[in-house]
Amino acid sequence: MALDPTSLLSARARTTGSSVIRDLLRLLDDPTVLSLAGGLPAPEAMPAERLRVALDRALRADGAYGCPALQYGATEGVPALRALIAEEACALDGRTTHDDVLVTTGSQQALDLLARVLIDPGDVAVVEQPGYLGTIQVLAGAAARLLGVPIDDDGMRTDVLETLLRDGTRPKLVVVVPDFQNPSGARLSAERRMHLGALAERYGFVVVEDDPYRELRFTDDVLPPVRAHTGLAVSLGSSSKTLAPGLRVGWMSGPRALVVPLTRAKQTADLHTSTLAQHAVHDVMADRPFVAAHLDHLRTLYAARADALDAALAEAFGDGIEHRAPRGGFFLWVRLPGADTNALLPQAIGHGVAFVPGAAFSIDGRPTDTARLSFASLAMRDLPTAAQRLARAVGSPVPASI
Ligand SMILES: Cc1ncc(COP(=O)(O)O)c(C=O)c1O
Repeated sequence: MALDPTSLLSARARTTGSSVIRDLLRLLDDPTVLSLAGGLPAPEAMPAERLRVALDRALRADGAYGCPALQYGATEGVPALRALIAEEACALDGRTTHDDVLVTTGSQQALDLLARVLIDPGDVAVVEQPGYLGTIQVLAGAAARLLGVPIDDDGMRTDVLETLLRDGTRPKLVVVVPDFQNPSGARLSAERRMHLGALAERYGFVVVEDDPYRELRFTDDVLPPVRAHTGLAVSLGSSSKTLAPGLRVGWMSGPRALVVPLTRAKQTADLHTSTLAQHAVHDVMADRPFVAAHLDHLRTLYAARADALDAALAEAFGDGIEHRAPRGGFFLWVRLPGADTNALLPQAIGHGVAFVPGAAFSIDGRPTDTARLSFASLAMRDLPTAAQRLARAVGSPVPASI
C-alpha cells in the first residue's frame, strides 16, 4: 500500500491547523452570502489606476543590471523604500534609521520571522485575548507556550500583564495590535503604550506592535507607537489595508541587533520581497499629495460603513446585541448574550450572511457569545441586509421596516 505522506509531516506542520478565516473566505465566491467575515479592503478602495502608473514607471526604469524592478534585490528591501519607511517611522518613534528597517512579504511574514528568530519550543509568548488569529497560528506553529492577556476598550490590560510578570512569567514576546485591533477594534491607550514600553525594559522582552490599521482612524488623534517608549519594540506596518493586500508588501522597524538575524531568516524564506511590488509601493508612498487624499478618502469611506453597520445592528437587534461604534480599522466586535456563535455560524450562512465566531480569536478555541463583523468590504446598501439576516439567524424579531 502506498505510504501516506502525512505520516512524514514535521511536528511543526502537525501543529499548524487550517485557518477558520481562510476557510470562510471561500464563501466570498457565493454571491448569495453577504460576508462580514473576511478582513478585506473595499474593492473600490484599492487605487488600481495609481498603481498602474507606478508599475509602468517601475518597468520603464533602467539600471546597471537592467530594469531594477525585475531584477533580484537585497533581502533587506529596495533602498528607496527602506529609506522612506525609516523616515516615516522615525517621525513617530524618534529612533528608527534606515538600518532598522526590513521590508517583508506582508506583515504576516514579519510575524513568522520574529517567531522563528525568537521562539524555541516552550518559550512563553503573550498575546491579546481576543487576538489576531494569524499571530496565534504563527506562535502555536513555533511551539510557543501561549499566554493570553485580556483586552478592554483601551487595548491590552497592561496591569494584568504586569501581575503575570511580577509573579514570575518571563515571555520572550508580547504581541499587540495597537490601533483598531483585529478582531475587537480596540485601541491601546497612550498610557498603556508607555506602560508596555516600561514593562519591556524592566522585565526584558520584545514588544511586537503589529499595526496595519494605524492610518485608518476615523478621528484626528495620532498616538505614539510603543517603539517611541522603548528600543525593545518592533513595529510592523503593511500596505495591505491602505493600498492592496495582493501587493504583499509589509515592513518592520526594530533594533538593528534583531534585524540582522531576521534578515538571515528572510533570506532562507524567500530571498527578498517582490522587487516589482516594492518599486510600485515606493512610487505611490513617495507621492505625498496622493497619499494624503487617498487616506482621507479611505477614512471617510470606512467610517461611513462602520456607522451604517452599527446603526443597522441597533435597528435589527434592539437590546439583543452589545456593540460599540468603531473608531477606526475594519472591524466591529459584538456580543450576542446567550448565543454560541460557533453554532450560530452555519445558521447565519443559511440565512445568507457570514461572520467570524469569537472562538477563532482565542487561544483555547472555546465557544463564546462574541463575533467579529467586518464592515470594510460590503457596499453600504448591503450592510442593513446583512444585519437583518444575522438577526433572523439569531431568532430576533426583525422590524418590518428594514
Ligand atoms: C492584525 C493583523 N496583522 C497582520 C495581518 C496580515 O497582513 P499582511 O497582508 O500585511 O500580511 C493582518 C491581516 O488581516 C492583520 O489584521
